[in-house]
Amino acid sequence: MASLLQPLLCVTAPADAGRYCTGGDNGGSNELSSPAGLRKKKLATTRLSSTSNPFVKHCVKLRLSSSYRRSCGYALVVGLIPIMEVCRFQELNNEELSSIECLLLLDGMERPELFNLPSTSIVHVSPHVMKKLSGVQSVDSTEAVAIMKIPRSFFDMLGEHKEAVYPSWFRLPNRILVLDGIQDPGNVGTLLRSSLAFKWDLVFLLPGCCDPFNEKALRAARGASFQIPIISGNWLHLEALASRFQMKMLAGHPENYAEASSQISLLSAKLADSLANRPLCLVLGSEGLGLSPEALQSCELIGIPMAGIFESLNVSVAGGIFLYMLQPEKYR
Ligand SMILES: *[C@@H]1O[C@H](CO)[C@@H](O)[C@H](O)[C@H]1NC(C)=O
Repeated sequence: MASLLQPLLCVTAPADAGRYCTGGDNGGSNELSSPAGLRKKKLATTRLSSTSNPFVKHCVKLRLSSSYRRSCGYALVVGLIPIMEVCRFQELNNEELSSIECLLLLDGMERPELFNLPSTSIVHVSPHVMKKLSGVQSVDSTEAVAIMKIPRSFFDMLGEHKEAVYPSWFRLPNRILVLDGIQDPGNVGTLLRSSLAFKWDLVFLLPGCCDPFNEKALRAARGASFQIPIISGNWLHLEALASRFQMKMLAGHPENYAEASSQISLLSAKLADSLANRPLCLVLGSEGLGLSPEALQSCELIGIPMAGIFESLNVSVAGGIFLYMLQPEKYR
């Protein structure tokens, strides 16, 4: 009986979603407006083969719409590797493997080892449906997608929590990477992944940054969006945080230092050593727009010495160098 009900739990999810999610691009959704009908229709099936199924539409909308994700509290993760990485992380941290709401597998795929979880609903889908779900043309590369709960380690200060009350997981931060208007999802994802790799504590997203649960950002982050704490907030939130924890504010200057004035210090092992015991915020701006006036005003600028004639580095590459050089002392 229990195994019969599992897929049902999953398939009925959009019914609930239909009730709660009204923030999507198209406002509400007609297909989801009859939860009872949907539930009845799906009772017998654990396999989806039609792309016009409301549940498939719900998944696609989770992949494409940031506002829909926020109002539902779920994201769509495409690909078995990122899904497994999130599961492995939760296992290592002895967390309940609760983040997978539903796993959608390509026809013929076995339930992967990590998913012997009684609470995970599994639905099989046809190649045609998988293409629609993943947005990837060739299904060879995509065997699975998962609906995952947006974790509690993502905290939106611009949302309901207007006051600067920090979430319960918030501990004394030592290293914070701040992204200042970085829109490119590839950059946001790559920087999240590198921050996690070099044991930075938190990534702070200022306005104008891409949603870390955007499909391309998720692809680049390889699951890091679910693992590293992320705060989305404005400059005032950041300043409050930095002053409360007495953090030194640095900003990376991606331009070639040859042109730079004496106000820019150069990144070196010596500089990194001198900062080893200080809590730091490092702000990185976008390649197109650079740093915001607030960052330029309140941060000490540091540049990466370059012998070449390039004007600047890719922000993900520059970020990787900063994150590595300035990583917390205990890991250096
Ligand atoms: C910089 O690198 C990232 C990660 O590889 C990539 O997604 C992004 O498109 C690159 N930016 C530019 C301007 O090439």
